[in-house]
Amino acid sequence: MHSFRSFLDHLEQTGDLVRISREVDPRFELPALVSQLEKQRQKAYIFDNVKGAEFPYVGGLYASALRIADALDIPDTVGMRHRDLQPVFTKAMMNPLAHTTQSSGTCKDVIKIGADASLSSLPVPTFFELDSGPFITGAVGVSRHPDTGQLNVGFYRTLILDDNTMIINASSMSDLRKIYAAYEARGEEMSIAMCIGVPPALTFSASGKHPPGVSELDVAGALQGSPIEMVQAETSDLLVPADAEIVIEAKVDFSRKQENVLGEFADQYGPETAPVAKLVAITHRKDAMYYSIMAGRHPEHNTIGNISVYGILAVLEKNLREQFDNIKEINVACEPKLGTMLHIFISINKKSDDEPEKLIRAAFAADGGLFPVSTITKRIVVVDEDIDPFNLEDVEWAIWSRLGDARKIIMLPNVFSWELERCTKEGQVSARVGIDATKDLAEIEELVRPIIPGAENYKLDDYL
Ligand SMILES: Cc1cc2nc3c(=O)[nH]c(=O)nc-3n(C[C@H](O)[C@H](O)[C@H](O)COP(=O)(O)O)c2cc1C
Repeated sequence: MHSFRSFLDHLEQTGDLVRISREVDPRFELPALVSQLEKQRQKAYIFDNVKGAEFPYVGGLYASALRIADALDIPDTVGMRHRDLQPVFTKAMMNPLAHTTQSSGTCKDVIKIGADASLSSLPVPTFFELDSGPFITGAVGVSRHPDTGQLNVGFYRTLILDDNTMIINASSMSDLRKIYAAYEARGEEMSIAMCIGVPPALTFSASGKHPPGVSELDVAGALQGSPIEMVQAETSDLLVPADAEIVIEAKVDFSRKQENVLGEFADQYGPETAPVAKLVAITHRKDAMYYSIMAGRHPEHNTIGNISVYGILAVLEKNLREQFDNIKEINVACEPKLGTMLHIFISINKKSDDEPEKLIRAAFAADGGLFPVSTITKRIVVVDEDIDPFNLEDVEWAIWSRLGDARKIIMLPNVFSWELERCTKEGQVSARVGIDATKDLAEIEELVRPIIPGAENYKLDDYL
């Protein structure tokens, strides 16, 4: 089991941590350097000296599927991919382990309430040119539904307006949006705690989507193999992770809402509108570190974001395999290089020429339980079983080598889309594309790929 701190120490010991002590400006200079670090090296980083800030800036801990596995103490992580992690998360979701409440925790080493607390003590970067300002990106927000009393945890990018006000964004598909609506309908102010530097397992489960009634805290407990330890917040009945690095306690005021913009994970700006929240307290470890996820199209954001599609893969695996017993593999690809939307690639040993289109329509129509697959999926491609659906080049090759009939391109117009697809038309609708990239059965003999028989048995190293 790893805590945020112990995983950071582990990365330092294995030489996977870069430390920069020269002073950096959090506005543009820091993100410019972090962007280079994330793109050039697969290492975590600590900036010890951020201008005007009280805490060091840390990031890059979870920039690959392998790192997620490492942080969860999963053995044999070599070659680990998201599809290997998905069953681990599904198992944890099916067998949650209840969190515990402690009487104290290191997140309370220092307690600053009211005027003693200030958001300006944090090294919060302004990432991109047109961003509305500095954004907290690595905090998980804990809130409580007023009707069910259940605690909810998720990532919510948070714009800092000044020393003691901020905007905590809740997307249309988030549970937090529903919780905001419930408090607003009651005419009540709402408490929320933004927790920075939480146990790795909680970081991962907060990014995932869980069925109603299943707590992210308890999925995290199952993931790390021991309960997540919580303590009561200083100014509300919320619980916060006992060993969080920094906790920001705030009250949300629904009388004031504001639009704001941040560079999103697929290289576009994403606007959101959310209520303004007032800072009421900051508590932290005595040697606290500020964890942040580089915004925009960068490995750590993409890796953690990928966890949110594990649920869709699980649903498709069950739903589609029940209808099509000849499916070989399914890849739900969350690839920023393909835009903000998902692309699903399915390999099949097809029995008839009309089967791929049926499969494409069934996959778009599948209900992920939480939102329809079609809401966030731009394209579904069906390939033959000699094509690797996890190899995007292979899929591209199949499309442009096996698609001779225009009817194998299936267009779905005016499908309701999520707000991060920026090219939608009136009514928030846009096009979906299905591609049958399989060989026509009549061409099976003709369209054979050249292979070298038994090639896997000959190892070049044995000959050099
Ligand atoms: C770095 C990062 C930033 C995110 N920012 C937001 C955000 O601003 N608003 C939001 O609703 N979801 C955001 N998400 C996605 C949520 O974490 C995810 O949808 C989560 O399931 C929401 O939790 P909830 O549905 O329990 O509220 C972000 C995810 C990551 C990894």
